[in-house]
Amino acid sequence: MGALGVVIHGFIMVIIAICLMSEAANAEQGTAIFYDPPYIPSACYGRQNHGVLVAGASDAIWRNRAACGKKYRVTCTGGANLAPHPCKPGNVVVEIVDYCSSPCNGTINLSRDAFSKIADPVAGKVKIEYSPA
Ligand SMILES: *[C@@H]1O[C@H](CO)[C@@H](O)[C@H](O)[C@H]1NC(C)=O
Ligand SMILES: *[C@@H]1O[C@H](CO)[C@@H](O)[C@H](O)[C@H]1NC(C)=O
Repeated sequence: MGALGVVIHGFIMVIIAICLMSEAANAEQGTAIFYDPPYIPSACYGRQNHGVLVAGASDAIWRNRAACGKKYRVTCTGGANLAPHPCKPGNVVVEIVDYCSSPCNGTINLSRDAFSKIADPVAGKVKIEYSPA
């Protein structure tokens, strides 16, 4: 690699680093609980079927229905109670289709299907990181 190659390589690494940092900066901390099916009807879409990777938004993100249809990538970051090994690796993308009425016990109320992809339902509630997807 010539000098120019080294400079371009360095430049690309910096761009990648900035992208990774801004992604981390977009991630918010919160908690997730879950609810059982049927996921229909929902506050956003009535009887329309939006699949099983859906969630209810608490007042923290509901914004008077503006949250409807928004997608969030959710990662489990730790336990919110004493249940052992609550988190599973990876993340899940959910669509907000419902309202978790106040007082909601979590920031996001995931469908059981979504919750069980990132955490053990036995835990009931976990700490999460979420960002727009
Ligand atoms: C959310 O979670 C609670 C349980 O804490 C449940 O009673 C409520 O109906 C759930 N539903 C939605 C759509 O948020
Ligand atoms: C919220 O969580 C507390 C403690 O975990 C529980 O006693 C209560 O029933 C929950 N409330 C709802 C609405 O699910």
